[in-house]
Amino acid sequence: MTNRVLTWLKNQFSSKELPSTPAPCFWQTDIHSHLIPGIDDGVKTLEQAMICIRQLADWGIQKVITTPHVSQEHYPNNSATILQGLAVLQQQVNLEGIPVQIEVAAEYMLDNYFLERLEKAPLLTFGTEKYLLVETGWLAKPMILDEMIFRIQTNGYTPILAHPERYSYYINDLNGLQRLRDQGCLMQLNWMSMTGRYGGHVKAQAKLILKNKWVDFIGSDMHRPEDLPALEAFLSNQGYELLSQQPLRNSSL
Ligand SMILES: [Fe+2]
Repeated sequence: MTNRVLTWLKNQFSSKELPSTPAPCFWQTDIHSHLIPGIDDGVKTLEQAMICIRQLADWGIQKVITTPHVSQEHYPNNSATILQGLAVLQQQVNLEGIPVQIEVAAEYMLDNYFLERLEKAPLLTFGTEKYLLVETGWLAKPMILDEMIFRIQTNGYTPILAHPERYSYYINDLNGLQRLRDQGCLMQLNWMSMTGRYGGHVKAQAKLILKNKWVDFIGSDMHRPEDLPALEAFLSNQGYELLSQQPLRNSSL
């Protein structure tokens, strides 16, 4: 809202009657980002992380659950490396007095080592439902995806598939996504997907997922300050309007 509009509003209403402007991110909690410096393909420095966090706070985000990649091949992170990074972020946020709570989980790759990882040690989750954020490779569905989802659930976690709109193997297979939902797997849409940031085919798929009301969580999946303009573009995108019709769980966290 521009200053001119604000001044006009103030002239029209007494301060008691002035309608409150809702924060653009009415979902309050961001559940997907890569803001721990230097441990995956996300931000490289603490300053970059802080640029992203300050902007999220300005958009109305009150809690950031950041989710570094965990995969055997590229990002062999574990709870210790991730929690260490969390402490550094929290310290800086407190120092600057930014009104945002920082928590951590992870984005687990459903690779060949995942089931071993699942059995070995407690995984990093969020919420009382023990939400576990997972992703797959872009091109091919894991051969044992059904079994992985089942084993996640029998180990006491609630699976959330990160950015279902981005997997090329689901582009012409909405039934496959429906099936996943029927199995109890929740879905998290990337808010940049609706801006065309990942291409027209992803945008079209994101629209279909929104139309089906399959978005349980919205997430920024922010990797670096360069993502901020695309994230901002979403706030005036038609997908933003559709968010209020989704069974969004972000605010319950
Ligand atoms: Fe991610």
